[in-house]
Amino acid sequence: MRRSVQLFFKVAVLGASGAVGQPLCLALVQNRKVSELRLYDIVSPLGDATDLSHIPRKVKVTGHLPKGIHRALEDADLVLISAGIPRSPGMFREDLFNANRHVIQDLSKEVAKYAPRAVIGIISDPLNSMVAVAAETLRQAGTYDPRKLFGISSLDTMRAQSMLADFTGNDPEQLHIPVLGGHSGQTIVPLFSQSGVPLTREEAEYLTHRVRRGGDVVVNAKGGRGSSSLSAAYAVADWADCVMRALDGEEGLVRSSMVESPLVPETTRFFASPVEFGKHGVQRVLPLPPLNEYEEEQLDRCLADLEKNIRKGLQFVTSKPSE
Ligand code: LMR
Repeated sequence: MRRSVQLFFKVAVLGASGAVGQPLCLALVQNRKVSELRLYDIVSPLGDATDLSHIPRKVKVTGHLPKGIHRALEDADLVLISAGIPRSPGMFREDLFNANRHVIQDLSKEVAKYAPRAVIGIISDPLNSMVAVAAETLRQAGTYDPRKLFGISSLDTMRAQSMLADFTGNDPEQLHIPVLGGHSGQTIVPLFSQSGVPLTREEAEYLTHRVRRGGDVVVNAKGGRGSSSLSAAYAVADWADCVMRALDGEEGLVRSSMVESPLVPETTRFFASPVEFGKHGVQRVLPLPPLNEYEEEQLDRCLADLEKNIRKGLQFVTSKPSE
């Protein structure tokens, strides 16, 4: 029997004034599962919080600068990290590693200190390495719980849906395409064979290429004014909604996420795939569906790169232990 008391959640967005953070906060303030929305950033979170507080919703919105980060994080149920810099045309996501690794390490230390039980969703790029940086930082602080750390990779699933729909004329909302691997280059492996739409190998190659290049196309189209922000915020808001509903006991909620995964060898550790959420975060990593020959080849290539990206993130933290 479903209990009558519904849970509401305190959500902290770290990087709230950024290009993803702003539309994300606008979406979260409209989510009825959010009781408190805490905006943290190094610039202007107070103004954005005041702005959002004029929207007539029951949610309490507050803004926090670095000296008040503990107030942004204390008792938070869900922490979404979109902080860091975006790429410019001509850059790969990996080129952001040096700029963003310290940001993610420092914020993960604060999360370990003030919100050790929160579910954490990482958005910042390069995602494959940033998840590893966060995991190792939390582990060193003694608060790493593999059920609670996620890289949010569902933007790739959305791209696979919209690009297949664009190609075939199908309704994008009716298409289901699991995406495996990670969130850069050939680590992104969409399984178009699962869509129910018959495609030739050449068509699957073309669509896979389009999904992989999705972020680059936006970066180029924005011409130096950042990367995906609106679609990224949409993906994260949808992901966060599913996580909160699952924390509140709803079953069967699945989204593509990068987590510590039983689907890959110990040396790779983190892998994006459809994950079912539960009351404590990861409920279950769904088993892999059957892959066709093209997808098997792509998965092999993915794992080689993914392992390197993850090792780079782990080594950055282990070679520079927390003080
Ligand atoms: C994306 O996929 O759009 C984001 O990871 C941003 C980027 O730089 O591609």
